[in-house]
Amino acid sequence: MHLSEILTHLGEEREQYFQAVAPPVIQTSNFVFPTLEAFREAFTDELSHHVYTRGNNPTVAMLRAKLAALEGAEDCLVFGSGVAAVAASVIANVNQGDHVVCVQSPYSWTKILLTTFLPRFGVSHTFVDGRDMAEIERAIQPNTKVLYLESPNSLTFDIQDLDACAQLAKSRKLVTIIDNSYASPLFQQPISHGIDLVVHSGTKYLNGHSDVVVGVVCGSKAMIKRIFDLEYMCLGGILSPHDAALVIRGLRTLELRMLRSNESAMQIASHLERHPKIERVLHPLLPSFPQYELAKKQMTGAGGLFSVYLKADNIEKVEAFIGRLLRFLMAVSWGGHESLALPMAGFYHIPGRPNSALPWNLVRFYIGLEDPKWLIDDLNQALEVI
Ligand SMILES: Cc1ncc(COP(=O)(O)O)c(C=O)c1O
Repeated sequence: MHLSEILTHLGEEREQYFQAVAPPVIQTSNFVFPTLEAFREAFTDELSHHVYTRGNNPTVAMLRAKLAALEGAEDCLVFGSGVAAVAASVIANVNQGDHVVCVQSPYSWTKILLTTFLPRFGVSHTFVDGRDMAEIERAIQPNTKVLYLESPNSLTFDIQDLDACAQLAKSRKLVTIIDNSYASPLFQQPISHGIDLVVHSGTKYLNGHSDVVVGVVCGSKAMIKRIFDLEYMCLGGILSPHDAALVIRGLRTLELRMLRSNESAMQIASHLERHPKIERVLHPLLPSFPQYELAKKQMTGAGGLFSVYLKADNIEKVEAFIGRLLRFLMAVSWGGHESLALPMAGFYHIPGRPNSALPWNLVRFYIGLEDPKWLIDDLNQALEVI
């Protein structure tokens, strides 16, 4: 299906709501039944009938249809956060005594799910360097059920070979799950590589306006139905109809936003790579990136994220640089209209927390929708303090 069809029309049955262009927010918790027969019929399958909004809501269903199509998946569920989607996708595929193989630096709360939450229920894990297929293979045990990928990750952008991972997992009967938040379905479609479940923090690019926290799981009808029947309905981490309508609005401009961020980030990363105050730039689609060939093979773009190592010999210089930036906001997350800087130095010297495993001179940038030249001017003036 054409991308424009998905973003502007798919799932929108306008004749049912006065031919309105914008989708209605069906802001209801409950649905009524005209007959007992209809009541009984609805309870045969709550995923495709309107019973209660913790199960199925028309505004949310409209969003689900679009996201499934974007990922080339048969079906999709949306959650109240990316973390809820990650947790549901993993929990749905493990039982007590099972084991998960996961890339070594997944998103922080994914790591906590595996290291702290799931061990309480007898599920163990091994972290692997996902750049090394032999290491992944060695980590598989007789009780391994899930291979969890995040490619690229959102700080150092390590990449896994999706074809090779899917092939290995199929041969060992593992379910593959990938966090595709970095690339978005616009630039990487893991299901076409044989990956089973694709999860997103839709809070990032899919919504794209820094005003909704939302999670996504895409996969086959059968796998999605299993997640719906238990983790979705039982843990109840749903997205509200109002937030679903906001994400549908965000999706209208997904292509424009992604292309703009991608181009601007490329331009700014290339500029910084030549800057004398920058030691190194990490951007998967710069030829200097160690996994550049693999990135080019499985991604058609990279979006707005990249990281730099500043040529600073002490943390105070990093602090001074961050303090001088005028046009970058300092914040976590990414994927909105606004450009952001996330200095690893901020994760040092926090009382009660260990320092970051990443060096203090690493700064991650997210490039939003502003004029890239305007942003470069700001970076140049701030780099003067180093
Ligand atoms: C790569 C990645 N995955 C998952 C998440 C979790 O998503 P959310 O914050 O929407 O719960 C995040 C959030 O920052 C993330 O960066």
